[in-house]
Amino acid sequence: MKRYHPVLVSLHWLLAFLVIGGLLAGGLGLANTPNTDPFKLFSLKMHMSMGTLILALMVGRLLVRFLTKKPPHADIGNALLNKGAIAAHYVLYAVVIAMAASGLAIAKEAGLFAIVFGGSGEALPVDFSHIAPRAAHGVLAIVLSLTIIGHVLAALYHQYIRNDSLFSRMWFGGR
Ligand code: HEM
Ligand code: HEM
Repeated sequence: MKRYHPVLVSLHWLLAFLVIGGLLAGGLGLANTPNTDPFKLFSLKMHMSMGTLILALMVGRLLVRFLTKKPPHADIGNALLNKGAIAAHYVLYAVVIAMAASGLAIAKEAGLFAIVFGGSGEALPVDFSHIAPRAAHGVLAIVLSLTIIGHVLAALYHQYIRNDSLFSRMWFGGR
């Protein structure tokens, strides 16, 4: 077995695009737009929809991962680092899911579903700083960004320094 299942491959790259997009748009755009800005409602609508889609796809991907055969773990020549890599992949799943869950918790506590999707006409709170899951969402964004940077560096190290064609495992072709 040389490659991950094509569904897992498709979901990996789609999710990579969506999660990195969500982090950039959330951190650079959404968080810097005051709640009084008329554009904020649209921004929140996009962010909340994308975030919920990410949650559904990530859970779906975890299921596909358990239900399909996958190639043996890549060997980096050090037992401890090999174990670390396995753990890091679970951390990626866990942090993305926690990120989306904390986002949903902010939305629930601030009554955002009625305001953003229900058209209740109610004003947004002045900001979200008094809502506990908002702090968690911010910290998780940093943890997730650092984990992704580590993940990308590790993938590049495999591909170009160990020359083990790691990327082909997460791509389409005969399995
Ligand atoms: C939000 C972004 C990302 C997440 C959450 C993520 C998550 C994961 C996870 C969990 C795995 C392990 C396989 C699995 O369980 O499905 C994996 C494998 C992989 N990822 Fe990512 N990934 C992301 C972005 C990227 C990016 C940007 C690259 C490349 C620059 C990349 C390259 C790879 C490669 C090459 C593998 C295969 C590793 C192996 O064969 O063991 N990933 N990714
Ligand atoms: C994995 C998915 C998600 C990612 C990557 C993500 C990313 C982010 C980031 C980076 C920020 C700014 C954090 C900061 O600068 O401190 C943010 C803020 C926020 N996110 Fe998410 N988010 C996700 C899912 C969700 C979901 C599902 C919801 C709600 C249904 C949500 C609601 C919010 C809200 C309300 C804010 C606060 C905006 C503000 O302070 O004005 N997020 N998100």
